[in-house]
Formats: sequence, C-alpha cells, structure tokens
Amino acid sequence: MGRHRGAEPHEQRRNRARARVGTGAVDEVETADDGGPAGAADTTATPHPNGGAPGAARTTPRTGPTPVHTPERPGPDAIASARALTKVYGAGETQVRALDGVDVDLARGSLTAVMGPSGSGKSTLMHCLAGLDSPTSGSVIVDGVEISRMSQRQLTKLRRTRIGFVFQAYNLVPTLTAAENIRLPLDIARKPVDKARFDAVVRAVGLEDRLHHRPSELSGGQQQRVACARALVAEPSVVFADEPTGNLDSRSAAEVLGFLRRSVDDLGHSVVMVTHEPSAAAYAHRVLFLADGRLEAELLHPEEGDILAAIGELSAARERRQAAPGATAAAGDGTR
Ligand SMILES: Nc1ncnc2c1ncn2[C@@H]1O[C@H](COP(=O)(O)OP(=O)(O)O)[C@@H](O)[C@H]1O
Ligand SMILES: [Mg+2]
Repeated sequence: MGRHRGAEPHEQRRNRARARVGTGAVDEVETADDGGPAGAADTTATPHPNGGAPGAARTTPRTGPTPVHTPERPGPDAIASARALTKVYGAGETQVRALDGVDVDLARGSLTAVMGPSGSGKSTLMHCLAGLDSPTSGSVIVDGVEISRMSQRQLTKLRRTRIGFVFQAYNLVPTLTAAENIRLPLDIARKPVDKARFDAVVRAVGLEDRLHHRPSELSGGQQQRVACARALVAEPSVVFADEPTGNLDSRSAAEVLGFLRRSVDDLGHSVVMVTHEPSAAAYAHRVLFLADGRLEAELLHPEEGDILAAIGELSAARERRQAAPGATAAAGDGTR
C-alpha cells in the first residue's frame, strides 16, 4: 500500500489490487481484476465492461471503496498527476476552496471516472488538469510536463497538441460540418491531417455517413461523438471529459461511453471522465470519489452496483463525520 504504483510491473500492480481489496469490505476475494490499466483486453464488451447490471448474478464478491494512496512522486505510468492541488475562488467571506489538496495519479492507457456530489470540485479538477484553469497552488504534470506554472500562451499550445477535452454541451462550431469540426484543432495548430488517423477515429465513433452534416443536423449523441473524435484526432496524451453524457439519452450515452472505453482498450488512449451516473462510471477501470475538494476514495474495476453502494457508504460516512466532528474516520476516509 502506498508504494510507488507507477514503478510497479503490471503483475505486481495486479497483486497489489488484490491485496487492497482484502483491506476493504470483504476478506477473501478472488477478483476479476485481470484488467488493470495496462491490459483490459478481456473487458471490452459494452455497455458495462466491468460486469453485469445491478441485480444480475455476479461472479465476484463486492469490493468496497478504499482510500486513495498516491506516492510522493508520479511514476512512469501516470499520464496526468496532481500534487497538493488547491484551487480557491474568490476572497474573504465568499471564498470557495474548490480543490483542497488533491494528490492523484491518473494512469496511462486507462479510463478513469471521477464522481462526487455537485460542487465537490470535479469540473475544477478537470479544468486544472487540462490547463483550462490555473491552480492556486500545487502541481499539475501532464505526460511528464509541469503545466501549473505555464503562461497562457504555453498552455494554449499544449492544449492543441497534448490534451483533448470533451464538454457536456459538445461545444461544436455550428457553422462547420462534422468533418471540419473534427479537424479544427489540427487546422488551428496548422498541423496536417493524417488521413488514416482521421478515418480511423471517424470509423471508431461511427460517423462515416454524417461527416458533411452541420451540428444542427445531428442528434445529441452524434454531436457528442463528433466532439469525441475532435478530442482524439490529434492523438493527445490524455482526454478529459466533463459529464460527456450529461445531455444524452441512455442509448446515446451508451454509444459515447462504449467509444470512450474502446478508445482506451483498442486505441491505447488515456481518458479521464467526470460523471454522476453509476452506470456511466461502470465503464471505467477506476472510479475516484471527490467530496469537498478532496479525494475521498476509489474503486477498481467496479460494477454499477459497487458504485451505488460506495456512494451510499461514503455519503453516510460524511454525515457521521459532520454529526460528530473529530470522530474516528469511517470507510473511505483516512487519506489525510
Ligand atoms: N469560476 C468560479 N468562481 C467561483 N466559484 C466557483 C467557480 N467555479 C466553481 N466554483 C465553485 O467551486 C466549487 C466546485 O465547483 P465545481 O468544480 O464546478 O464542482 P462540480 O463540478 O463537482 O459540481 C463549487 O462550490 C462552485 O460553486
Ligand atoms: Mg461540474
């Protein structure tokens, strides 16, 4: 526990995952955690790659939320990291501590979901990690580069080449076709469009026959798939998505989530996604829980039922702590 996760070979990491499960809600576990950020080839099925729907018979005992242990320094398999990340908005009486000392490593080649109550700092975390907002203090490293003290100009350049972002409201340019929207980051960066890459991304999101449509001629799900393709076409180091399915019906959401997961499993991308839907978070290899600007706990390879149960446990523990300040920490706490 608490070792340098990034430096561990995959096999060790897998064993560690098993060991950690043993410290959670169950004692004796033979987990199905053969996935792991580096090798989830056996979990590509959608809609719920981590297992069955709630109520379905499960093959493994439930794993509870565990504290997040982040090493002092990011290891080599971290694609994005934060250390002591703090973001304070405003001043005086209206001051809000949106992030309050977040330490986290987000794994390369993995789909990470970030959950938490409204106002817990999820969007602020995405924006600080993606260089869309600057932290008040602390460090953000993306693909080995410290970005927290970069100038706006440097950040703009970095975002064009290394970072993809998917917004809840798609944020497509209405006057451009789907193809033009997808190519936009490359056009702005004056980089040539790799036709094979473009075609592969378009195929992966299933937009081959919608390329010449404008956003107003596309459904919400199609528009968000254009936005996903736009985020991925420049082969960024990491893609951040803030509630990418928040405006979508469940079928369109499943298409977008299936694509995001496949972009990790099949194309080797790294994706970090905010969601408040347990069914969406169940697509992730790892789910992080934020509360009051702090990382509260994590779940590895959870099913939807695990996530629902964890949300209940964590919120009950918060209520207990609020009712009895200074009381011994309950499940999911102990990170500080
Ligand atoms: N630009 C801003 N100015 C002032 N307060 C903000 C700003 N952005 C976010 N906040 C506050 O920071 C806290 C975290 O917000 P946010 O990261 O949007 O949470 P979440 O995405 O989890 O709902 C909230 O209390 C929110 O009101
Ligand atoms: Mg938000």
